[in-house]
Amino acid sequence: MDAADTGMGDDAPRRTTRRLAADAAGIAAAADLLAAGGTVAFPTETVYGLGADATNAGAVAAIYAAKGRPGFNPLIAHVPDIDAALRYGVFDAAALRLARRFWPGPLTLVVPRAPGSGVCDLATAGLDSLGLRVPDHSVARALLAAAGRPVAAPSANRSGRVSPTEAAHVLGDLDGRIDAVVDGGATPVGVESTIVACLGGQPALLRPGGVPREAIEAELGGPLATAMQDAPDAPLAPGMLASHYAPRAGVRLDATSVAPDEAVLLFGSFRPGGMTGQPQLNLSESGSVVEAAANLFGMLRRLDGAGTASIAVAPIPTTGLGEAIVDRLRRAAAPR
Ligand code: TXA
Ligand code: MG
Repeated sequence: MDAADTGMGDDAPRRTTRRLAADAAGIAAAADLLAAGGTVAFPTETVYGLGADATNAGAVAAIYAAKGRPGFNPLIAHVPDIDAALRYGVFDAAALRLARRFWPGPLTLVVPRAPGSGVCDLATAGLDSLGLRVPDHSVARALLAAAGRPVAAPSANRSGRVSPTEAAHVLGDLDGRIDAVVDGGATPVGVESTIVACLGGQPALLRPGGVPREAIEAELGGPLATAMQDAPDAPLAPGMLASHYAPRAGVRLDATSVAPDEAVLLFGSFRPGGMTGQPQLNLSESGSVVEAAANLFGMLRRLDGAGTASIAVAPIPTTGLGEAIVDRLRRAAAPR
């Protein structure tokens, strides 16, 4: 066990992690585990989530223990459809509009908690607001419908590590620490949901993600306020700590030249100076930010596995999904 493993999450009791197929039997078994207070990783269209019954504080505590996640970080409650979401949150006109346009899909809406929602305080880290999301993934929606309760689910990685886009990534971080993983193959979007707070007043972007800011602003007919958090002491989206998405290697952005001992993450046809035989992967040969988002976390993991001290990243455009990609890379690059 290395230092990273001993430093966090030692309070997760060891258990056998079941591998469940994404078929009717696997989904029924996963729903039973959730109802019994278990922790189950499952695919969404963005990344794999580590789910537990959001109304059961003991079950939610098991998520924090498995991830080694700081206890002040609120979790997103996942539900199968808008009707379910309306039971747990209070939606103003802007929130309703965004829900109708983008759900199911990679958008999380932070809204006031509905009175008597039943979502436990541990899941929201004591906030009066609640993050709600209807994922656009057949396995996730079947599981949420079968579970019949809101499912709190952060990304299914150890805290501070890269989000998982395959069941194998989940097991690499959490095997023996969670009750099951439903294997639904690779997740199509690859970066997490966009988070928008609708708490009265102008809706605010808390985290760029799978729905581009431009699409949300077009639907709202006006700009989003920006409330993205870089300061750890600013509480609005406490998950947005500066060095949240961290591979073991250092990450260097906007690299126009690379050193012989670096691994290289490319985008499009641009080639930095100094390229020789370094370990290298291309997020999208054709220069598509959509393809790049889907490849981002998997490629970061593979280059991290090459064992170099630094990963140099070629320039990436910041339009559309590029905003979320560059945001994640900036966090991976932050000093820690
Ligand atoms: O795509 C996703 O959103 C994935 C999949 C599994 O759904 N989930 C995910 O969860 O990325 P997580 O826990 O890694 O990130 C959730 C973010 C955190 O930054 C958290 O602080 C923020 O959402 N958040 C959740 N509830 C909030 C609330 N009530 N107010 C402000 N921020 C909130
Ligand atoms: Mg996460």
